[in-house]
Amino acid sequence: MTDLSTTIAGVKFPSCVMNAAGALCVTRDELVALGKSRAGAIVTKSMTVEARQGNPEPRYYGFPGGSINSMGLPNLGYRAYAELIPELKQFGKPVIASVAGLCEDDFPTIAAVINAAKPDLIEVNLSCPNIPGKPQIGYDPEASERLLKRVRKVITVPMGVKLPPYFDPAHHEVMGKVIGRCEVDFLNMINSVGNGLVVDPDREEVVIKPKGGFGGLGGTIIKAVALANVRAFYKIFQGKIPIIGTGGVMNGVDAFEHFLCGASAVQVGTVLVEEGLGAFGRLEAELAAQLKKKGYGSVTECRGKVKEL
Ligand code: FUM
Repeated sequence: MTDLSTTIAGVKFPSCVMNAAGALCVTRDELVALGKSRAGAIVTKSMTVEARQGNPEPRYYGFPGGSINSMGLPNLGYRAYAELIPELKQFGKPVIASVAGLCEDDFPTIAAVINAAKPDLIEVNLSCPNIPGKPQIGYDPEASERLLKRVRKVITVPMGVKLPPYFDPAHHEVMGKVIGRCEVDFLNMINSVGNGLVVDPDREEVVIKPKGGFGGLGGTIIKAVALANVRAFYKIFQGKIPIIGTGGVMNGVDAFEHFLCGASAVQVGTVLVEEGLGAFGRLEAELAAQLKKKGYGSVTECRGKVKEL
């Protein structure tokens, strides 16, 4: 039997495939459904202080090759997720609470209360591209460091950071130094490739309503960017900080590529929205078949093994 379990920051996951924050994880019903599914964890929607309806619809659009979204952080507000976490923990898989905010002060406020609810891990989202007028914090190294140091003081469970894609080694280097100074237990990369634009040529219009059509890209079209970021940070930390690879995982071979580049687990967004919860079983079967074909008995055996020419 191929072993698809994984361990991140000392927390054991029964499967290395789980939802990405934002995909089918806003409401209690969605989170319970993830608990009952084959997902390796339950990841909550990134939460803010107050409940939010999010941006106007249409705000998600799938197309061959990917997706674009500008959801605008629709969520129940952190108090509701703090109440839900004990119930979600009964499904026997880790609960990852994703913490966001509309300003820096929101993050420690939310993190303290969520930490007290004892999720297995907390992911600090520095990379939502879809709040009009609010740039992604992860593109500001000083603000990222300030914020991470503040939340670190109130988080006692393993703390991770959800990063945006970076496109230059100099930026990987700078953020690597920030992360190294902030006692980060795990990384998750990448969030959607922010502020893309998809045009419907027949209708001669953009496909989503918020921000004039600009939104975060996901799915196959971002896989190479995701792999590059996983690889870059895997090398910077020499594999010592576990990485959740997110971006472009549509089948088991995509997941295998993330592991080769250095991921310890993968998260799925676009494929989950398009295919529903059945995607987990399919991806796990395909990943197991790929590992077997390549002679690996587990995902940890192939982690980081991609060869350079
Ligand atoms: O718009 C959104 O809710 C997206 C959030 C994210 O990408 O972190």
